[in-house]
Amino acid sequence: MPATILIGAQWGDEGKGRAADWLARDSDAMARYAGGDNAGHTVLVGSQKFQLHLVPSGVVHPDMICILGTGMVINPLRLVQELDMLYQQGVDISPDRIRISARAHVITPGHMALDGAEERMRGGESIGTTQRGIGPAYADKSARTGLLVSAMLDPEKFGDSIQQSILTSNTILEQRYHLPPVADIDGKAAEYTEAARRLAPYITYDIPPLVNQILERGQRLLCEGAQGTLLDIDHGHYPYVTSSSATAGGALTGLGFGPRYVDRVVGVAKAYCTRVGNGPFPTELTNEVGDRMRQIGVEFGTTTGRPRRCGWLDAVILRYAAQVNGLTELVLTKLDVLSHFEVLHIAVAYDLARDRITEMPLDTLAMYEAVPVYEALPGWQTDISHVRRLEDLPSNARRYVERIQELAGVPITMISVGPERDQAILC
Ligand code: IMP
Repeated sequence: MPATILIGAQWGDEGKGRAADWLARDSDAMARYAGGDNAGHTVLVGSQKFQLHLVPSGVVHPDMICILGTGMVINPLRLVQELDMLYQQGVDISPDRIRISARAHVITPGHMALDGAEERMRGGESIGTTQRGIGPAYADKSARTGLLVSAMLDPEKFGDSIQQSILTSNTILEQRYHLPPVADIDGKAAEYTEAARRLAPYITYDIPPLVNQILERGQRLLCEGAQGTLLDIDHGHYPYVTSSSATAGGALTGLGFGPRYVDRVVGVAKAYCTRVGNGPFPTELTNEVGDRMRQIGVEFGTTTGRPRRCGWLDAVILRYAAQVNGLTELVLTKLDVLSHFEVLHIAVAYDLARDRITEMPLDTLAMYEAVPVYEALPGWQTDISHVRRLEDLPSNARRYVERIQELAGVPITMISVGPERDQAILC
């Protein structure tokens, strides 16, 4: 069975780009199925660094078909910028290898302005969104008032639709939020018209037939998840989530194929935890240990540059991720970052009022109140960035990995020990 789904097992930023790059070697096609340019995937190939937000990271592999699926929301200006950047870096960006679903939705300038306005309104209870217009674009999609990518097939008319969409958003900005409207509507419409001209050759209605043909031929499709399980609109701690289906199920609806084709569901987890934006994070370290993790792990957002909140690994959420995604394996990233710590902690349960629980609460308030119950493990305090075989890891590092595997109930198949492509252990 030829489909692999790759998802984040925590709050995003787990290093999925890295895992995707590894899995891409055995894949013929790669598809993004949800989210938009709120995602940021970094791929290092030799001395070249690719920062991707919308195009599947398989684009750096020649001959691979790359699909931007129906479940996505797409900012046309950002996509054009990204394609230009790839072209300048010598990547083949021809429309016969990059296909964009006509049924994905467009993020308009109005959506971005509304994202900012809604966050301001939330005040102290803000979500901490990436301000890329993701929520408002998905809101329009669900309300059936959205703008489909197919509109770009007629660039002039698309410009008119962009104008109309800005006017609608401006009414809300002014009347509901008492904020200034989006300015220079004509200029923006012209920019979007130009982007539509550039993108039209890539747009197709035939994503489900294309995906199913690939799978029926027995070719391998890699579905590249964005964000992470705990940010999923249905399965994360609402409202501190993104607006799309970031879990494995999203791949099926976001691309249009059936579960019978899926044989691998790979979850990516960092060897510790990070989160950007607000919301519960039981193992967060708001102390010097957390600061050290951030510095050593260079934990700053790819998309927004925001410092990431850091904390110990949480096996309770990994078990949950294994459950809701049906994980068949785990990829553990950034194990090398923990080489600097004397003692490591893994949350194995939570204390909640008078109860000790081992299942993650889905009630957001309960998750805020959860006090982690830690298991302490000795660190290894030696450089592991050169290690390429599991048996060559220091025994304490092996013990740490084995314990995660036991607690999550899923085998670990790859461990990254440094940012370069070859700094990995295949288990
Ligand atoms: P939005 O997706 O921009 O609406 O943001 C909603 C929440 O998801 C915020 O907490 C963001 O920080 C978070 N988020 C969105 N995309 C990513 C990502 O790619 N990595 C990590 N967090 C993300």
